Amino acid sequence: MKALILVGGFGTRLRPLTLSVPKPLVEFANKPMILHQIEALKAIGVTEVVLAINYQPEVMLNFLKDFETKLEIKITCSQETEPLGTAGPLALARDKLIDESGDPFFVLNSDVISEYPLKQMIEFHKAHGGEASIMVTKVDEPSKYGVVVMEESTGEVERFVEKPKIFVGNKINAGIYLLNPSVLDRIELRPTSIEKEVFPKIAAENKLYGMVLPGFWMDIGQPRDYIAGLRLYLDSLRKKSSSKLATGRHILGNVLVDETAKIGEGCLIGPDVAIGPGCVVESGVRLSRCSVMRGVRIKKHACISSSIIGWHSTVGQWARVENLTILGEDVHVCDEIYSNGGVVLPHKEIKSSILKPEIVM
Ligand code: GDD
Ligand code: MG
Repeated sequence: MKALILVGGFGTRLRPLTLSVPKPLVEFANKPMILHQIEALKAIGVTEVVLAINYQPEVMLNFLKDFETKLEIKITCSQETEPLGTAGPLALARDKLIDESGDPFFVLNSDVISEYPLKQMIEFHKAHGGEASIMVTKVDEPSKYGVVVMEESTGEVERFVEKPKIFVGNKINAGIYLLNPSVLDRIELRPTSIEKEVFPKIAAENKLYGMVLPGFWMDIGQPRDYIAGLRLYLDSLRKKSSSKLATGRHILGNVLVDETAKIGEGCLIGPDVAIGPGCVVESGVRLSRCSVMRGVRIKKHACISSSIIGWHSTVGQWARVENLTILGEDVHVCDEIYSNGGVVLPHKEIKSSILKPEIVM
């Protein structure tokens, strides 16, 4: 079986992290987002993953070369010369996706995280006999997603409305599809949206089916959702393989600590924290609901909550960093500084406090 991951887009909503690496390579729970997906695809027998890409392809390819060997899966790129949206890239990769087997193929948005129940999805797809299956999930705020109105018992999709202005339902497109090769005949090679131009038509012919996704789901393409997603992911990890989570007197709730990170005396860490490789957390530090990327140093008695600390940054002693502060790569927050929702571009030094949420360039 084959799969295509939609890797394009500039990841603007995840700046300043995406100023340093393409969104799919931003670590989530200590692993680049896209690797969570590639591993899940490999686990159910996908042999080739096509990355539909229009932005920094060389960075992605170099990075993934190692994993191609490690995971024993073929990873190829289908590169657009202009952004083709969410459907155009499928037309462009047509020859890579179709083979003699006539098997359906997976398509994934690169920024969605879940338990990837892909095996169940294959069974669902076989059982309904339609042309396309999409994973759906319930959310409180459906307006920022593609909303799916479907027949509860069969899963048959009646309507698909991308980012509706008025309420049509709270079941939304989770960005995980299983499509028959015939879907490719519906897509022209031009910038086009699968959500706006393809799914509504398949639904109108009663050949689109929605499977309610078991377990958690989150689009982690924005800081607030990234942090919320980390909590859900770690919750799920607790249930599935709790031995991966940190333990000890200084740990509260679900915490992931890379084995190469060093944690000082008298810290209190958690809940919902991920600490990446090579990080140094000095004594007396308090961390909760945050992601600390590779190579970060957090000095004595600093306190960080609901924030993301970018690669190789430092947070000074007694500093307080909170409320969706996002530090880009190599940012240095001086001692005793307060950051309330600061979004700080890479390579900056923060010498005075950021009192209200703002972008620091
Ligand atoms: N190759 C390529 N080219 N990929 C693209 C392009 C493009 O021109 N534009 C967007 N993508 C990729 C993004 O990188 C992402 O993986 C995926 O397509 C979806 O784009 P987003 O920009 O993240 O869309 P969204 O989050 O607003 O909405 C989509 O995801 C929701 C679920 O998270 C839609 O699919 C919604 O219907 C869905 O509910
Ligand atoms: Mg998205």
